[in-house]
Amino acid sequence: MISNSLLEVRNLHTHFTLGGWLDTKQVIRAVNGITFHINRGEVLSLVGESGCGKSTVGRTLTRLENATSGQVIFDGKDVLQMPASEFRILRRDIQMIFQDPYASLNPRLKIVTTLSEPLFCHKLVRSRSDAREKIADILERVGMDRNDMHRYPHEFSGGQRQRIAIARVMILAPRLVIADEAVSALDVSIQAQVLNLIKKLQQENGMALLFISHDLGVVRHISDRVAVMYQGNIVETGTKHQIFDEPNHSYTKLLLGSIPRIPMGIYS
Ligand SMILES: Nc1ncnc2c1ncn2[C@@H]1O[C@H](COP(=O)(O)OP(=O)(O)OP(=O)(O)O)[C@@H](O)[C@H]1O
Ligand SMILES: [Mg+2]
Repeated sequence: MISNSLLEVRNLHTHFTLGGWLDTKQVIRAVNGITFHINRGEVLSLVGESGCGKSTVGRTLTRLENATSGQVIFDGKDVLQMPASEFRILRRDIQMIFQDPYASLNPRLKIVTTLSEPLFCHKLVRSRSDAREKIADILERVGMDRNDMHRYPHEFSGGQRQRIAIARVMILAPRLVIADEAVSALDVSIQAQVLNLIKKLQQENGMALLFISHDLGVVRHISDRVAVMYQGNIVETGTKHQIFDEPNHSYTKLLLGSIPRIPMGIYS
């Protein structure tokens, strides 16, 4: 049988050890045995309260944190076991969008330089003019002007900077994007625009999306399926409809009960 799943995470643990001496040593089980999968072209959201381990999951999948144990299989390949050289090539297919676009935009570099770097790094262009053409095209696709490539990050608003950070990711045409609180720092009206942009690009490119968020209103808008995390574990996974309309786990019910009502029509 041909599997439709792009990413399979099996019994993943990421623990942090704090303190140097035996008697003061404290182990934080940030991710404590989670199993889930994401199908090709699917949007899976990871939700849960602050500190439950959502970001650590994203960071472990991209090897920014070392897993303690478990398996991460991307398109049949074992992500955690492969040599760094092989992982660098695979990284083109697994990209991250962060809450703070400054994390991916160097304030000292013009946008054209920042967006050229991954293109040359992954050998996707042959010349500078080739790169400029691709950059102009992607800037327009994220709702910016092609001439914005000649400006610096500080010349843009937070929402525009996030669009540019999204352009930097999308220019590589990844197969999986991990968006960690990608719209959380933006004003509500801008949040809706950027969210709609992410969804539009996801659908156009057919990429899979792991959407990490504590904001259930946003999650409801963007997801196909939702995984609910609590203290390092996934307590419930289901379709958006199952999680929001027929939650099973008491923690999911508690989480849903605590969301403020979202004004109708904001996310359209
Ligand atoms: N590098 C680290 N060293 C030690 N502890 C860490 C590290 N990274 C995360 N933690 C701890 O792991 C737990 C999970 O953190 P994580 O950032 O994954 O939570 P989160 O669900 O993303 O929270 P938030 O919604 O606030 O972003 C927390 O207790 C955090 O303090
Ligand atoms: Mg986080």
